[in-house]
Amino acid sequence: MISIIGTRPQYIKVKPIYDYCLKNGISHKIIDTGQHYSNGMSKQIIEDLEIKTESLGVKGKELEFIANLILRLKKVVKDKVLVYGDTNSSFTIALVCYKLGIRFAHIEAGARCFNNKVPEEVNRQFIDMTSTWNFCSFKPDLKNISNGILAGDLEYELLNKMNPTIESEGFGILTVHRQENMTQERIEKIFSLCEQTGVDIILPIHHRLKSQVWFKEIKLSDNLYLVEPYNYSKMVEGMAKCRFLITDSGSVQKTAPFFGKRCLVLRSESGIRETIEKGYARICTFTGEDLDWLQGKVKPDKKFYLYGQPSEIIINEII
Ligand code: UD1
Repeated sequence: MISIIGTRPQYIKVKPIYDYCLKNGISHKIIDTGQHYSNGMSKQIIEDLEIKTESLGVKGKELEFIANLILRLKKVVKDKVLVYGDTNSSFTIALVCYKLGIRFAHIEAGARCFNNKVPEEVNRQFIDMTSTWNFCSFKPDLKNISNGILAGDLEYELLNKMNPTIESEGFGILTVHRQENMTQERIEKIFSLCEQTGVDIILPIHHRLKSQVWFKEIKLSDNLYLVEPYNYSKMVEGMAKCRFLITDSGSVQKTAPFFGKRCLVLRSESGIRETIEKGYARICTFTGEDLDWLQGKVKPDKKFYLYGQPSEIIINEII
């Protein structure tokens, strides 16, 4: 079995699968496409998670990356591939497996935001349509596909194993990297909102934001602290201790219930609706109501997206 991954959230998701296979003597290797190339978002995360990967080191911007990856993958894919999420790496792996008639599993199947202008949405639909096994992380996603198998969320499995102590200290965490937030105007709006919270906010900075040409011109308020991307252990520690989260990250929003923290979502829509329905998340409106809402308290729910042990369900089904 081969897991093919390439981005920070995928290193995190593959960890329970890696551990389960290792523990049970099941042959499994991890191939890294190289989509996330920066040290802080790949090498340090991999070392911290203690997973062994083989890197293909594929380079290039979007289309060039996809074309280069197709050529490299042709030589490495074998029967039973595991594909995670909805990234360009995931889309390309699905395309190659489909064309070569190789069976593959999609982990995080059925996730939808119902907006085809979002590139990941189109990737998700293509992967779900062509995969042999579709494993859903969340119960509501089952209704979006006809052949979904409910596995639960691998990051929740990992977090339960790490078992951090949940507290609430007086700082917030901000993460922001999605394309729609990468304009100077939008970032200034987000930073101004952070300033209005009146508490210290830590921003582990994503390489996409740092590389924007206008970024150096932005004035930072006194309560905003820019740091290098955290490795996963440090991020978990931060999320366990912070007072609230402000983010455009799907994974940070999804794990807010585990940590019992409120999460303000910097997007116009979200496919992770249960976190909104249960009071853990709110779509940011940039009004005073956001600030009031962030003051509210919610309880941790460590089983929010668990329906058993996801790694065991996935591997047993494929075998
Ligand atoms: C990822 C997927 C997205 C999918 C979503 C839901 C990619 C590029 N995107 O997005 O398509 O819908 O997952 O599962 O794969 N973290 C650190 N250190 C930091 C900051 C964050 O370890 O400094 C951790 C967070 O705790 C979280 C993950 O990294 O687990 C978030 O990664 P991020 O790059 O924000 O990707 P997502 O937006 O979650």
